[in-house]
Formats: sequence, C-alpha cells, structure tokens
Amino acid sequence: MIQYKEGNKIPLKELRRLYAAVRWLHFTRPKLLRTVYDRSDYVVSAWDGKKLVGVARAISDGVFNAYLPDVLVDPQYRRIGIARELVRRILKHYDGLYNITVVAEDEGGRAFFYNCGFTQMRVALRRMRPIKRVVMLKEGR
Ligand SMILES: CC(C)(COP(=O)(O)OP(=O)(O)OC[C@H]1O[C@@H](n2cnc3c(N)ncnc32)[C@H](O)[C@@H]1OP(=O)(O)O)[C@@H](O)C(=O)NCCC(=O)NCCS
Repeated sequence: MIQYKEGNKIPLKELRRLYAAVRWLHFTRPKLLRTVYDRSDYVVSAWDGKKLVGVARAISDGVFNAYLPDVLVDPQYRRIGIARELVRRILKHYDGLYNITVVAEDEGGRAFFYNCGFTQMRVALRRMRPIKRVVMLKEGR
C-alpha cells in the first residue's frame, strides 16, 4: 500500500537513495539536494512504509506559472500509477494557474506526461550549462 505525503521535509538519506536508483547522480550531493528541496514550492512524495519510492516537486510563482523539474519513481515501483498520482496532486494544488511546464528528456517521460494531459509545446527555449560544471560551481570547487 503506497502512502502519499505533502511537504519538503523528506530525510536526505531517502532522497539520495531514490535519486541514485533513478541514476540522477548529480542530485545525490547532499548539500545541493537539501537546497533543491528546501527551495521548492510544493513537494509530494510516495512511500512504501519508510521507503521513499517516488517524488515530484514544483517551483512556482503561485499565480501564473509552475515548473516541475523532477518527477521520479523508483524503477522497482513503476507502472503502477505512482507518478500519475503525484502529478495529479500537483495539478490539483496549482489548479487555476496559467502554465505548468515540464521537460522530459526521454521517450518514457514524455509518454507519461502525455498520459497526464500535457501537450507538446513548440515555443520553449532554454539555456543550459554542463551539469558537472554547475555542481562544481554550487559546491564552491
Ligand atoms: C516517467 C516516470 C516518472 C513514470 O513513473 P510511473 O510511476 O511508472 O508512471 P505511472 O505508472 O503513473 O504511469 C502512468 C501512465 O503513463 C504512461 N507511461 C509511464 N511510463 C511510461 C513509459 N516508460 N513508457 C510509455 N508510457 C509510460 C503510461 O500510459 C502509464 O499508464 P499504464 O501503465 O496504465 O500504461 C518514471 O518512469 C521515472 O521515474 N522515469 C525517470 C525520471 C523521468 O524521466 N521523469 C520525467 C521527467 S522529470
């Protein structure tokens, strides 16, 4: 039985384990991961007992825009509707906003967001820096 919780006070150990399981290794730096969650506007997590099995977080101005940088589910718990429930709760929280955006780099992620009612946009632009360099800069190395 999966339980869902709101809020960003998730033990760092559990967050690091989940991000490592999904192979998002740049996120497993403890200081950066804590900052990322402390500064997120809204966080929903999924739990199998004391094990964190999924998380989604949003950055938002609370009026017009929200961005979902991370929606991830432990590979051993996929395709049972966990991410759908996490996103459902986020969309409910931000009901009424003009624009909710995600970036899904791979096919599976895009298929998931289509399934949640998102549509492809042709007007987005972005500027990126190499992730390793960002981690080094933020850690003061
Ligand atoms: C994308 C991700 C979050 C989906 O999590 P999940 O809990 O397995 O997704 P759900 O079970 O809620 O899927 C809901 C629906 O989305 C679609 N879907 C989900 N994953 C899919 C995949 N890999 N390929 C095709 N469709 C997919 C399906 O229609 C699915 O319904 P179904 O299982 O009844 O067919 C998960 O695969 C993941 O953590 N990926 C790595 C991180 C990532 O890429 N996140 C997205 C960008 S932030």
